[in-house]
Amino acid sequence: MSLTIVPDKDLSGANTLGLPCLAERFAVAENHDALGEAIRRAADHGWPLTVLGGGSNLILPERLPGLVLQPAMNAWWLEERGEAPRAHVEAGMVWHDLVMTLASRGLWGIENLALIPGHCGAAPIQNIGAYGVELGDVLEAVHLIHLDDGREAALSAADCRLGYRDSIFKRTLKDRVVITRLVLRLSRLPQPRLGYGDLASRVGSDPTALEVAEAVCAIRREKLPDPAVLGNAGSFFKNPLVDAIKARGLLADHPDLPHFAQADGRVKLAAGWLIDRCGLKGWRRGHFGVHDRQALVLVHFGGGNATELLAFADEVAANVWSRFGVMLAREPRLAGT
Ligand code: EPU
Repeated sequence: MSLTIVPDKDLSGANTLGLPCLAERFAVAENHDALGEAIRRAADHGWPLTVLGGGSNLILPERLPGLVLQPAMNAWWLEERGEAPRAHVEAGMVWHDLVMTLASRGLWGIENLALIPGHCGAAPIQNIGAYGVELGDVLEAVHLIHLDDGREAALSAADCRLGYRDSIFKRTLKDRVVITRLVLRLSRLPQPRLGYGDLASRVGSDPTALEVAEAVCAIRREKLPDPAVLGNAGSFFKNPLVDAIKARGLLADHPDLPHFAQADGRVKLAAGWLIDRCGLKGWRRGHFGVHDRQALVLVHFGGGNATELLAFADEVAANVWSRFGVMLAREPRLAGT
């Protein structure tokens, strides 16, 4: 038997927010066959299936019915294509390990995405992005299995409908597939992208991919809490997009509001700034708080649960709404809904 299903599994250590969660059933798929078997069994028994990666962008409820399945296949290989090799990466590989492995081999493409927690299989779901780079800039294909009939398929990057913290996996394919492998387009030629924030000032004039990755790690460590120390899921809200008229009004009152014009005419605002200007940085209520160095990150001090977290987040969003008339949308996914 290649698959072991464990009943009543405590997942509090399997999500970076450290929320309490009891899964009715839990299985780790070490290989492709085990993954297929788990999908078949869930379908045969009518168990709702939740796919768990690194649990770093997920809000877990106190009880998860059905089967929680964690893909653990974590091989990767290079497909040589001259100056632009492709990396094939299985879903269970830790994203940051992949970044450092590729960067230390002088392969460019994902060095700006260093230290993002989570597994590779989850990366396309929210189209992970940081320091001016998104997964979509290098993604070539996503291999997956459909949960309803076990059919295997590959989507091109265009098929994935990637947007800002968005993809088809949050929309029409939500909870309908399990991602098994990514194909990334890399470069052997130096391609430093240093335009975001003070990244350029942190590296020399001709940096290696590894130096860029290390600079990104240093910036992140300064601002973002380590989930191993303080529960969090990174940015809890997306940076909101508002129309040009709304942006103009806000900027007239708050000229220092960080804002980024989008190709479609809308303007992206910095949610962290909005929360910060409500005076909420470092605010704590009960088991949850707003991080004291980056207001976009909500932190869990321990002892809380998903219901309390969502109520706390609603209160933060309500403050921003009443002060600025801007609605914040949650970024991490809510499991089991
Ligand atoms: N700001 C404040 N106060 C705060 C936080 C931010 O004034 O408490 C201001 C900053 O000074 C800056 C602006 O807001 O002018 C933007 O802040 P930052 O550069 O820290 O980036 P962000 O927009 O808050 C986004 C991503 C992060 C990513 C960084 C860097 C989202 C939702 N978040 O944050 O991603 O690391 O840019 O690229 O887009 C994540 O998704 O979990 C995540 C950490």
